[in-house]
Amino acid sequence: MTQRAGTIAIDGQVASGKTAVGRELARRLGCPFLDTGIMYRAVTWLALQEAVSIDNSDALTQLAQGTPMQLNDLEGRTILLGGRELGPELRTAEVDRHVSPVSTVSGVRRDMVRQQRSIAERSCQDMGGIVMVGRDIGTVVLPDAGLKVFMTASPEVRARRRYDELIAQGMPADYDEVLANALSRDRIDSQRKDSPLAQAPDAFLLDTSDLTIEQVVARILERLGRKADGSAA
Ligand code: DC
Repeated sequence: MTQRAGTIAIDGQVASGKTAVGRELARRLGCPFLDTGIMYRAVTWLALQEAVSIDNSDALTQLAQGTPMQLNDLEGRTILLGGRELGPELRTAEVDRHVSPVSTVSGVRRDMVRQQRSIAERSCQDMGGIVMVGRDIGTVVLPDAGLKVFMTASPEVRARRRYDELIAQGMPADYDEVLANALSRDRIDSQRKDSPLAQAPDAFLLDTSDLTIEQVVARILERLGRKADGSAA
């Protein structure tokens, strides 16, 4: 029998590499991957679609509560929002600009945490585990996760990664703007009152500035006592 992956919580700053690493890790462990940022993005996208003001906390909370989300693919590239598949529309510059303020709303966070815990529970039952990535996974969503990782990298490295990603997707991008946006989102994410971005005391800190995705994945697998292909060592 293959060993269960269990719950793996990865938190970190914008473009610290957590999504690419988490997705690859989940692939090797044979369990689903969920980047929880996609859920805050979905609420933001819906608010923009329905012309709900980003300043209206009550309306945003109602929107979150009325929007059940489900995993759609194991790689977490898309999400099912009330049965509708969403992916690329959640990664536009407009959603980027509004998502941090939306994620400061406590009512929105409460509902996202509730939904994330229920997704984790189902994934553990059906697939033996989940790799969940975000800002508050190790501290709030899954405080009993089997392994917690906190990823960081220098602002310049992170902005360059995000810039290259946008260019590769054929999106317009300006490096200085990307850097300013990343710094501003980091500030909002780590200074907000409700569950700010923070390293859990029992999380393993990984500075990815000078590491490739493969090297980061290898270090995490080593921590888990696994071989490079994800199998038990
Ligand atoms: O990782 P990302 O850029 O897709 O996240 C989008 C926003 O959502 C980011 O500004 C912080 C917020 N977020 C959060 O507050 N908590 C999470 N668990 C995940 C994302």
